Amino acid sequence: MKESVVHLQGNTSDLIIQTQPVVEILYWGDKISGVEAAAIQAVKRAVPNGRLDVDTPVTISPEHGRGVFSSPGMEGNRQGLDWSPVFEFKTIQQDGNHLLITTEDQIAGLKLVCELKLDSQTDVLQVRNTLTNLKTATYQVDRLAVTLPLPERADELMAFHGRWVREFQPHRLKVKHGGYQQENRRGRTSHEYFPGFMQGTTSFSEQQGEVWGFHLAWSGNHRLRSDVKTDGRRFVQAEATYFSGEITLTEGESISTPWVYAAYSAQGLNGMSHAFHQFVRKQIIQFPDHKVRPVHLNTWEGIYFDHDPEYIMQMASRAAELGVERFIIDDGWFKGRNNDLAALGDWYLDTNKYPNGLEPVVNHVRGLGMEFGIWFEPEMINPDSDLFRAHPDWLLALDGYQQPTGRYQYVLDLQKPEVFDYLLERLDTTLSRYDIAYVKWDMNREVVQPGHDGYAALDGQTKALYDLFDELRQRHPKVEFESCASGGGRIDYEILKRTHRFWTSDNNDALERQQIQRGMSYFFPPEVMGSHIGGRHCHCTRRTHSIGFRGLTALFGHMGVELDPVKESAEEQAGFTHYITLHKQLRPLLHSGKVVRIDHHDPALQINGVIAQDQSSAVFLFSQLAMPTYTLSGNARLAGLDPTKHYRLSVLDQPASMRTGGVMKKLPLWLDEEMTLSGAWLAKAGIALPVLDPESALLIKLDAV
Ligand code: GLA
Repeated sequence: MKESVVHLQGNTSDLIIQTQPVVEILYWGDKISGVEAAAIQAVKRAVPNGRLDVDTPVTISPEHGRGVFSSPGMEGNRQGLDWSPVFEFKTIQQDGNHLLITTEDQIAGLKLVCELKLDSQTDVLQVRNTLTNLKTATYQVDRLAVTLPLPERADELMAFHGRWVREFQPHRLKVKHGGYQQENRRGRTSHEYFPGFMQGTTSFSEQQGEVWGFHLAWSGNHRLRSDVKTDGRRFVQAEATYFSGEITLTEGESISTPWVYAAYSAQGLNGMSHAFHQFVRKQIIQFPDHKVRPVHLNTWEGIYFDHDPEYIMQMASRAAELGVERFIIDDGWFKGRNNDLAALGDWYLDTNKYPNGLEPVVNHVRGLGMEFGIWFEPEMINPDSDLFRAHPDWLLALDGYQQPTGRYQYVLDLQKPEVFDYLLERLDTTLSRYDIAYVKWDMNREVVQPGHDGYAALDGQTKALYDLFDELRQRHPKVEFESCASGGGRIDYEILKRTHRFWTSDNNDALERQQIQRGMSYFFPPEVMGSHIGGRHCHCTRRTHSIGFRGLTALFGHMGVELDPVKESAEEQAGFTHYITLHKQLRPLLHSGKVVRIDHHDPALQINGVIAQDQSSAVFLFSQLAMPTYTLSGNARLAGLDPTKHYRLSVLDQPASMRTGGVMKKLPLWLDEEMTLSGAWLAKAGIALPVLDPESALLIKLDAV
C-alpha cells in the first residue's frame, strides 16, 4: 500500500483515507481485507466529457478552487481576500486509529487540521476540523464544517423533526437529486431539529440494510446537510453555524468545529444504535461506575409553584413508601417564584415559603433514605427580579433593540465575567450548603439577538455554558446534572459529557412518549432518557391512560414519577410500587444491554427490547399504539438472541383488559403455558401475538436455560 493511504480498522467497519495528492476519504463502510496499492488504483475515477478537464475530489474540506461546485468545507475572507482557499497536504500524525492531518494554503494564509478517530471497539468515528489564521490580518470565518462522503447507494435518509412536547419525530425521504438540509437557529440544540440523521441503502430498516449515522455534538446553532452531486457522489456536512462577523481569527488564532460522531452499520439502524450506545457509555457519560440510576420523584406536575415544606415532606414520605430513591423539588423554591412571571435569577431560598430553611426538607428526604435534588435555570433572568433591577445590562442582547421575551424571561450573557461568577457562586454555595445529589438544569427559552459587547456571541455563549458546567463539576464531582430545556430542547453528546441524563420531554403522555423515546433511542442509551410516570390524565394532551400503559412506557428509561403521590388513589399507588419494583429488578439489564427495535409489518404495534450483552436474558415490550390493522397481529420475530441457546419465556406484565375485554376468544398459548424456545426460532419464526387494545402494552422476559 502506498504511504499516502492510511487504513483505520474498526471491529466491523473500516475507513481508508488518502493524503496525497489530496486528502480524501476513499472508503468508509464494512470491514475490508486485501487493501493494496493496486486496489486503491481501481477506484480512481473517470473524467467525464463536457465538464472540467480534471477529476474534482471531494476532500475532507471540499474546495471550490479544485472545481467542486457543491457546498465547500469552509467559507470566509480577509476584508474580501483569501476567500477561496485550496488546502495542500502538509503532515500526518498517526497514533493507532487516531489521525491528525495538517493541510495548508500558503497563499490564503490558512491552516486546516482534520482530526479523525475510529474507535476500534465500538466503530464510532469521531471527526473535527480546526482552522488557524496564519497571517497578521484578521480572518473572518463564515462557515466551517465537517464533511464525510457516502456511497451512491445510500439514497434514503431518516431525520427528526419536533417541537415542544413532541420531540424526536422521524421522517424519511429519498435523496436522489439535490439533497436535504436542516438548520437550527434557536440558540440551543432545539426540539425542532436534533443535530443528527441516518442515511442508508434503499428501504433500510431497524434490522436490515446498510446505514451511516451522524451526530453533531453541539448545543448551539447548527446546520446538517446531505448532498447529491450531479455526478452521483454523495456527502454529508455538519457544522455549528455563525452569525455574520461572529468568528474572526487574529494571527495564530483557531476555531474548531464541534465533534461529529458517526457510525456505519451493515445491520440496519439497530447496529448503528449499538455502536452509538456503547460509545456513549464508554466515552461520553461521566457516570460513577457501578452506581445505579435512582428512581425519581419530581414535584413539578404534582404541585407546580405551590411549595409548602410540610406538604412536600408528606410527599417525600409517600414517595419513599412507593420505592422512590431520589426526591427532587422543581421550580418554585426560590425568592418570589410563585408563577413563571418573576424571580429567575434570584437564586436564594424563598424564606416565606421555607421559613425554617431548606434543611428540614433535605434532612427529611435524606432520613427516608432518598437522595435530594433541586431545580435551577441558571442562564435565565426575569425582568421582574432583583437581579434584573440591579443589573439590567447583564442580558445577552444588543443595545438599542427590544428583543422578545420567551416564557417572560431573557438570557444572561455568560461571557460577562461578573455574570459567570455570580451564577457559579450561587450554584456552588447552594450545592455546598445542602446535601444535594442532583440538579435539574433547565433552559426554557430560545435565544434572540445574542449580543455580547455589540458582537454576535452565540458560539461564545455555548462555550461559556460548557465552562460553567466544567467548573461546577470540578467543584462538585459527585453531583449529577440533568439537561432539560423545556423537556428535550438540549439533547446532544457535548452537553452529555457534562451532565448525566436528559429530561426527554415535558410530555408524559405514554402514547406520545412511545414515539419520542423510540426516536431518542437511535442515538442515546436508555439510562440517560428521563422517563417518568405522569398522572392518569396527562397535563399536556388531556388523554387518560391506565397505570399499566404508563408504567411500562416509563420502565425502559431512567425511571421516575412526576405527580403528587399524596393525592393519588390506592390503586394508582399500588401501580407505582409495582412498576418501580419491576424497574428495579430489570434495571441492571435495561441500563447496560443492547437496545433492539423490531421490524414489524403493522405500525400500530411497536416492539422494542433490551438484550443482555452476553445474550443470557432479554425483555421485550409490545406496545399497541393504535387499533391493530388486521384482526390478528401476526408473529413477533424477536431478533438478537443467541441462536444456539434456548430461552424460557415468561410474561412479566400484561394489560388488565387482555383477559376481560373480550377481544380474543383464545389467547396465544405461551401466555399461559411455560415455553422454552431457541434464539433461532425466536428470531426467524417468532411467537404469535395476542390482540391488544390500543394504548396498552405487554412485557415479556426471556432467560437462557
Ligand atoms: C420546564 C421543564 C419542566 C419544569 C418547568 C418548571 O418546562 O421542562 O419539567 O421543570 O420548566 O418551570
